[in-house]
Amino acid sequence: MSIATEAHTIESTIAFGDPVRAAIARTVADMLATAPRRIDAPGWVAAARECWHRLPVEPRLAISRFRRDSGPDGAQLLRGLPVREEDLPDTPTVPESVQRDATQPAALLVMTACGLGEPVAFRAEKHGALVQDVVPVPGAESVQGNSGSVLLTFHTENAFHQHRPDYVLLLCLRADHERVAGLRLASIRRALPLMSPADREVLFRDEFVTVPPPSFGRADSAVSHPVLSGDPDDPDLRIDFAATTPRTGRAEQAMIELGRAFETVARTVRLLPGDLAIVDNRVVVHGRTAFQPNYDGRDRWLQRSFALADLRRSRLYRPDDGNVLAN
Ligand SMILES: [Fe+2]
Repeated sequence: MSIATEAHTIESTIAFGDPVRAAIARTVADMLATAPRRIDAPGWVAAARECWHRLPVEPRLAISRFRRDSGPDGAQLLRGLPVREEDLPDTPTVPESVQRDATQPAALLVMTACGLGEPVAFRAEKHGALVQDVVPVPGAESVQGNSGSVLLTFHTENAFHQHRPDYVLLLCLRADHERVAGLRLASIRRALPLMSPADREVLFRDEFVTVPPPSFGRADSAVSHPVLSGDPDDPDLRIDFAATTPRTGRAEQAMIELGRAFETVARTVRLLPGDLAIVDNRVVVHGRTAFQPNYDGRDRWLQRSFALADLRRSRLYRPDDGNVLAN
């Protein structure tokens, strides 16, 4: 199946109507009035944690259900959130762009991350900011990362890391000009039935190596791991097709077959302003179709946050019990 003919929906999609959107916007406005209005300040995250509970029941119920069972697609799409494109500044074009000051979309992201668990960031990635811009950057078109605009291959977010995010949140502020850029998702729950028992068995073996990106400064500390772990019928997934290398011939073959299965079951979601996609990073790989940036201030603009379901497990990595993992 080609990318152009992939399914464009995921099973867990909820579109909020005007009354819910207005109620969410009121809570967000309260949140934005909260000092210190700096996203990464502990006091602001604490306020977001409390404001989450003041949101209408619809988004809170959706997240509660998703936390318990992320479904066959391992993703939740919330549409119709209050993001007013006309209020936005130009889409940033600089590398490593992040958000530091409290804004409506940043409040939505951090509150939702608190609903999923706790927001986290990695100090080595975008300066450890809890809300990061995902925008095309001039000269970085072919980068296999959030600054590029060519096809981004399927990956588990931060696959090399022991405490990789449990959830990746992607909120669309502005779509690309042609509205062709798609978030691609492929769930191991859908792909597994397409795999032979022999290939499945190999994917459970510790025969794969994943390297951290250069920004983490640990290029020599490649991690050896299995691609699948846990329940044979509903496993956890850990792979980055741009950074994971098979160590044996059978592992190479199994990885090729897994890649084929992902292409068969992939969904492509074209995010529109006010759409929030939440990816269960334990069972889904994600990527992006190619698109054409114009660098005119109106290019595609997503904001991204990560969440851990259980913050305590990463305590060793988080100085002062903060929300940023030091390495
Ligand atoms: Fe990613």
